[in-house]
Amino acid sequence: MVGSAVCRRLSQIPGVRLITRTRDEVDLEDESAVRELFRVEKPDAVIFAAARVGGIEANRRYPVEFMTENLRAQLATIQAAYESGVGRFLFLGSTCIYPRMAPQPIREEALLSGPLEPTNEAYALAKICGLKLCQYYRQQYGVVFHSAMPTNLYGPGDNYHPEHSHVLPGLLRRIHEAKESGADHVTIWGSGTPRREFLYVDDLADALVHLLELDDPPDWVNVGSGVDLSILELAELIAEIVGYRGAIRTDPSRPDGMPRKLTDISLLRSLGWQPRIELEEGIRRTYADFQRSLQAGLLRSA
Ligand SMILES: NC(=O)c1ccc[n+]([C@@H]2O[C@H](COP(=O)([O-])OP(=O)(O)OC[C@H]3O[C@@H](n4cnc5c(N)ncnc54)[C@H](OP(=O)(O)O)[C@@H]3O)[C@@H](O)[C@H]2O)c1
Repeated sequence: MVGSAVCRRLSQIPGVRLITRTRDEVDLEDESAVRELFRVEKPDAVIFAAARVGGIEANRRYPVEFMTENLRAQLATIQAAYESGVGRFLFLGSTCIYPRMAPQPIREEALLSGPLEPTNEAYALAKICGLKLCQYYRQQYGVVFHSAMPTNLYGPGDNYHPEHSHVLPGLLRRIHEAKESGADHVTIWGSGTPRREFLYVDDLADALVHLLELDDPPDWVNVGSGVDLSILELAELIAEIVGYRGAIRTDPSRPDGMPRKLTDISLLRSLGWQPRIELEEGIRRTYADFQRSLQAGLLRSA
């Protein structure tokens, strides 16, 4: 999802030559294949948007894969980028790598200030290693390797797997299916009370390009909308956009995750960037893309 949005944004800039690979072409866990890619292509800058990602259930079920796959792919890529002379590397962290009880809204200095949220600890630890490794390369070798910390993202190309998706695409799919089947209610996971922030993925791509254009970016910077809402409010908004009129019930037997997760985006604002796409507009665009993909038999659900 993010990689495609970054390509859409970069393709608007004259003179940029995009170099992309699918996993079938280059598995980033394969160190020698990654080295060869950098040797052949010699990029000036790298945006590292590949990762094993997933929602709360996928993280709970597969901590080993979340840690090992992410560590291997990011280590291979960061090292190969440095060795091949790349001067600019933008690594994607995530706001879920901040401590569980970080004061809200979360500021950049909260990183490593307390215990992590247990439901995504393995993913968070791997991401923290990637982000710190970029910082160490910058300190030790003077290359501008830096990171962005996106909040929850959504938009075209998201994953709609019934169990493993993130909360927004998961709700969108379930509410759409409830409408199609004429169900009188839809059940959402957890208590509905946790508060979350969402950013449309094309806004993120725009922010990443903005960060790449700065000569001296911070080592890491939050990228969010600065606005949150409860999961129940999110479900109600999605139901309104989808046109679903049944009841929305909660299922407190499912885990909630962190009680609140909102980023402080004042650092990013001070660097001259702010989000543009409101949540309602973003969900409308996402739902239109969802319907198109469904009709074409191309809905991503893996
Ligand atoms: N989605 C969010 O809400 C969110 C929030 C904060 C941060 N982020 C960060 O943003 C980045 C992109 O996330 P996303 O939502 O765009 O996820 P995504 O849609 O699942 O994209 C990740 C991509 O990485 C590829 N990939 C994973 N391991 C690979 C490997 N070993 N070799 C080659 N390709 C590999 C995947 O390929 P396959 O399709 O073959 O698996 C997939 O295309 C991640 O770093 C994530 O941590 C995402």
